[in-house]
Order: sequence, then structure tokens, then C-alpha cells
Amino acid sequence: MKQIRIGLLGLGQVGTGIYKILTKKQSFLKKKTGCTFKLAKIAVKNPSKKRSVSIPKGLLTAKAQDILSDPTIDLVVELIGGTTVAKQYVLTALRNGKDVVTANKALLAEHGQEIFQAAAKAGRSVYFEASVAGGIPIIKSLREGLISNRISSIFGILNGTCNYILSRMTREELDFKDVLKQAQAKGYAEANPELDINGGDTAHKIAILAALAFGERVRFEDVACEGIKTIDKHDIAFAAEFGYVIKLLAIAKRTASGIECRVQPTLVAEDHILAKVDGANNAVLIRGDEVGEVLLYGPGAGPQPTASAVVSDIVDFSVGRYWGEQNPWLNKQRVKLKPLSLIKSRYYLRFSVIDRPGVLARIAGILGKHNVSVSDVIQSESKTGNVVPLIMITHDADEKSIQTAIKAIRTLKAVHSRPHVFRIEG
Ligand SMILES: NC(=O)c1ccc[n+]([C@@H]2O[C@H](COP(=O)([O-])OP(=O)(O)OC[C@H]3O[C@@H](n4cnc5c(N)ncnc54)[C@H](OP(=O)(O)O)[C@@H]3O)[C@@H](O)[C@H]2O)c1
Repeated sequence: MKQIRIGLLGLGQVGTGIYKILTKKQSFLKKKTGCTFKLAKIAVKNPSKKRSVSIPKGLLTAKAQDILSDPTIDLVVELIGGTTVAKQYVLTALRNGKDVVTANKALLAEHGQEIFQAAAKAGRSVYFEASVAGGIPIIKSLREGLISNRISSIFGILNGTCNYILSRMTREELDFKDVLKQAQAKGYAEANPELDINGGDTAHKIAILAALAFGERVRFEDVACEGIKTIDKHDIAFAAEFGYVIKLLAIAKRTASGIECRVQPTLVAEDHILAKVDGANNAVLIRGDEVGEVLLYGPGAGPQPTASAVVSDIVDFSVGRYWGEQNPWLNKQRVKLKPLSLIKSRYYLRFSVIDRPGVLARIAGILGKHNVSVSDVIQSESKTGNVVPLIMITHDADEKSIQTAIKAIRTLKAVHSRPHVFRIEG
């Protein structure tokens, strides 16, 4: 019977989840894989910290080198996070002839080329199922299940914190700041939620998925990214009046004029399947030329769902399932992403305007002059002083035309504050 000796770097949320699975399910996994899994060493920052699981004496170390340079350890599982120490440890593990499993999307999105080149040089593999959408097997689906498909689009709800906040704002008509505070109190948002709410975490994930879908490297810095802070409960209510729900969507799609890869708050028709993805769940809608549309839905984070994905990588390693030939990070080509200014979309525009005759006509006139035609308008009667909201939905328009028109509209004396601009999909 083959025994896999594992070194765990990190015993936080996910590391503890893995510890639980590997201790509780030894015989279950042995029956399924013909292998046993031995946690040989666990490196943490602070070995004397109180843990929620009881760890045998001697298993914890503060020295990652105890794992990285132990020749009896076959596989290193990196669950520290971030792009500094984690990167250094992953590169050392590869150089020392060990395969690596990681759940670290930031590391792969920002340094994937360096990591995979180091792996290729050392003849090792890097497994990363848990790096996108937690418990949802999205990486294997793209690499294996959908291998015969030319992927034309991926639409993802990939950040549970943002989806939780937007779902509650929608359901309970609450303000962003209040829901964020509650989400932090309940553990759905980090004490420092910036990377989630500014869209960066979602951008890391869509950069990885787009690379796998299109077979070429995607530069994380090229992914256009906007978070959810600019959405307020009035936008959510007005969107609903037009029949839409606002979601933070990650979009990667082939269009006639190039590949788009972006993260933006987006209006989705309320009967669309992604509009129904509620709470902290994730969903990925993939369109392939053979399969049509596939939706993967489930928990996108959390210790046990994420550990479930990490253990699937550990099993892949143990049974010798590896992946290399189609690795986009080893591809000399890089996807040339279409600049945001060239995208075409329908738009939701909310202006705050002085309530007097002729303002609507002037705004519509400026939009028309820039080839933006309006399909729907609501001029709300709710006033703040003498300022009222004016909401317009456009037909398909160029981003550049929209931005130029808005710049001109903002010079009007009757227009107060920066307009809210969101794109509409589907
Ligand atoms: N949490 C999730 O639901 C989730 C979902 C998907 C992917 N991920 C990814 O999984 C990874 C781990 O996330 P997590 O939530 O489990 O993180 P976490 O709870 O913050 O745990 C981090 C662990 O790393 C250890 N650590 C920190 N610096 C270290 C160092 N220099 N040397 C050795 N160990 C060190 C910490 O030690 P101490 O315990 O002593 O502090 C802790 O055990 C991240 O890349 C994250 O993006 C997480």
C-alpha cells in the first residue's frame, strides 16, 4: 500500500479542514484510492496558539524548512496565503523535488508563470483546485470534463462575501455599510474586507479561469476590476423596477473584436439563473461549443468545502493524475485582452438632477449625440431638496461613447454628483 507523506504549510481555516478530513477519513480514502495519507509535519506561524483540533505533540513546527527540506515528504500543501512567504516556500518546495497543492489564487494569478516554470524545470506539478470557487470542482471541469469544448464565455459569481452583501441589500433593502458590518460579525467578511469588496479576489479567480478556458496566459493586471462599494440600495431598488438584480460578475468572453476579462457590478435579468444565486454561494456559468451551457453552483469558501477541493488534489497526486501539456502559464502567448473602452454593453445610468423641466431632454440629447440610445427611463418623485434621481437604461452602446457622454453630462449645472454607471448582461 502506497503511503503519501504530506507537509502542511498553514493550519488556519482550510488547513484545519484538511486535518479533519485526513484524520477522520483515512479508511474511506484508502478504499477509494489504494493509498494512505500521512500528515508528516505542519508548519504554522505560532505553534503555541490554541487550536480547534488537538494535534499530536511534535507535529507542529514554526520552521517551514522542516517540511521543505525533509526528503521523506512527497507533497507540500501550501495554505498560508498571500504572495510573499507562500511564493518563496512554493518555489523552494518545487526546487527540492516536491509536488505542491495550493489554494492560493493571488499567488497563481499574480505569479503563475514563475511558479509553473519552476515546476516544469523541476519536473513537478502544482495542483490548485481550491484556488477558485472553493468546493466547486471548476478547475477539473474546465481541464477535464469540458476538454473538447471551445469555451466562448464564463460568467462567475466568485466571491461569497460580495454575493452575501448584495443578496442581503436586495432582500432587506439595507445599506452597504450596515450589511458589511453584519457580515463581519457573522464571519462572512474578513476584518479587512478590501480585497473582497474591491473586486480583487474575484479578479484573481477570473484571471485563472480565463487562462484555463482560452489556453493562454492572462495578466492579472489587465483584468478590469470594479468592486461593490459604489452600489447603494437605491440602485438595487431601481434595477428591480426594470426587472434586474445587481451581482458582482466576473466575465471572460470571446467576442468578434477580442477577449474580454473583467469584474464589475452588473445588472442581470431577474429570471436569469445567476440572479438566483443567493447568499455566500458561488456559481460559474460556462458556455462551450459542444456542451452548450453548464452551471456549477455551490459553496465557494469555508473550511470544509475548500478542504474538500484540496483533498481532491492530494488524491490526484497520489494516483499519479497530473496535468502539464495544456498549461496556459507555460504558453509563450499571452491573451491580449480587449481594453475596457472597446466593450459594448447595455447600461444602467443613475443621475441626480435638479427637478426642473428640460433636464431629461438635455441629458437624452447628449447621449444621442454620442450614439447612445435610451430604451427606458424612470424619473423618480422621491426628492432630496430639489434633487431627484433620473435613471436611464440604454440599448447596446460603446463604453467609450458612454464615458464621453457622461463627461459632457457632468458639466451640466442641473446634474449633481457623479452618476452611477453599471453594465447589463444577458
Ligand atoms: N478560508 C477559505 O474559505 C478559503 C477558500 C478558498 C481559498 N482559500 C485560500 O486558502 C489559503 C489559506 O486560507 P485560510 O483562510 O486557511 O488562512 P488562515 O486561516 O489565515 O490561515 C493561515 C495559516 O498560515 C499560517 N502561517 C502564516 N504565516 C506563516 C509562516 N510564515 N509560516 C508558516 N505558517 C504560516 C498561520 O499560522 P498560525 O495558525 O500560527 O497563525 C495559519 O495557520 C489562502 O491562500 C486562501 O486564499 C481560503
